[in-house]
Amino acid sequence: MTALPGTVSRTGARVERLPLARFTTLGVGGEAEVWFVGHAEQLAEALEAPYRILGGGSNLVIADEGVPERVLRLTGPLAVADLTPDPALSDAETVVTGWVGGGVPLPGLIRKLQKLGLSNLEGTVGIPAQVGGAVWMNAGTRFGEMFDGLHTLEIVTPEGRRQVTPAQLSWGYRQSGIPRGHVVSRVRLKLRRAAPEAVLAKMDFADVARKGQPKMKTPGCAFKNPGGVSAGRLIDEAGLKGTRVGNAMIAPEHANFIVNLGGASSADVHALLRLIRERVGVPLELEYELWPGQD
Ligand code: FAD
Ligand code: EPU
Repeated sequence: MTALPGTVSRTGARVERLPLARFTTLGVGGEAEVWFVGHAEQLAEALEAPYRILGGGSNLVIADEGVPERVLRLTGPLAVADLTPDPALSDAETVVTGWVGGGVPLPGLIRKLQKLGLSNLEGTVGIPAQVGGAVWMNAGTRFGEMFDGLHTLEIVTPEGRRQVTPAQLSWGYRQSGIPRGHVVSRVRLKLRRAAPEAVLAKMDFADVARKGQPKMKTPGCAFKNPGGVSAGRLIDEAGLKGTRVGNAMIAPEHANFIVNLGGASSADVHALLRLIRERVGVPLELEYELWPGQD
């Protein structure tokens, strides 16, 4: 049985029809049925019909028409971090934490780890994701990435729940090897004990590299760096900084960012992505995810 929007589901998940724009850093996207799922039973129920997983919405360009599938948002216990060291797996140098929910906001987690003197993930400072989305993309910077600090991942699919280790996945630059639609519901972190000041110094270093990034509404970098070359530099060299379609613009600060000047439509953003691909001589792989589908 499917729950009606504005109600609660059989297992108690809140279900509402909502504009997705409010869940994305770009601020674009029409309505969908959003399921707020807080534990394994609710997650299992939410996966009974076609679905999409929404994390921090920081890598998404969602159509103004919205999407027909239900959209899952992890909340409650699935958005809580238990950072208590597991005594059986931790020692004087290493800490393996309890479970950290996929719905935990990454920026707050990174700040907490710094205060606790726990290192390995500070290179991801400034990424406005949720833990599950950041793990699914293996989000990172040249100072570090999510897979630097993972011990175990819990993955949920309509077929059930299983635990995997990073060694069982073929992860790499901006990819985890986890198929799309497999929910990263929780992870356990593997961290190194360090002086909080040392962790903070590394965070400051990584922060400096962001100084040139735009401050407006954006889903981050549009394209992956081809072969280690900055896609931003290639787009810049094609003379496209500041190019505008409707209310979307290629950022003057960094050419791999598309920003929403206010009231941009998904069509504006798609048009800029097409223009970039036409004008840059090198094939570019999209980093954004386009909902309902790629161009
Ligand atoms: P969403 O954008 O909500 O979703 C992205 C994909 O992840 C979708 O396929 C979604 O279904 C999937 N997903 C989300 N949650 C889960 C889950 N729990 N389980 C399984 N799949 C899930 N990225 C970098 O790598 N490095 C950067 O330095 C960086 N800087 C950024 C700066 C800004 C200002 C912005 C806006 C973005 C930046 N990004 C960066 C991009 C973005 O933060 C990452 O791609 C991040 O991994 C997206 O995570 P999210 O939780 O927001 O996922
Ligand atoms: N550059 C230009 N013009 C531009 C942009 C960049 O000439 O418009 C040049 C810079 O001057 C610099 C070089 O290109 O010499 C690299 O630029 P930057 O340091 O900004 O790094 P990037 O490779 O463009 C990557 C990530 C960012 C991450 C930063 C910092 C990708 C696609 N991008 O950008 O990640 O924050 O490094 O580590 O890997 C994201 O993935 O969404 C993202 C923002």
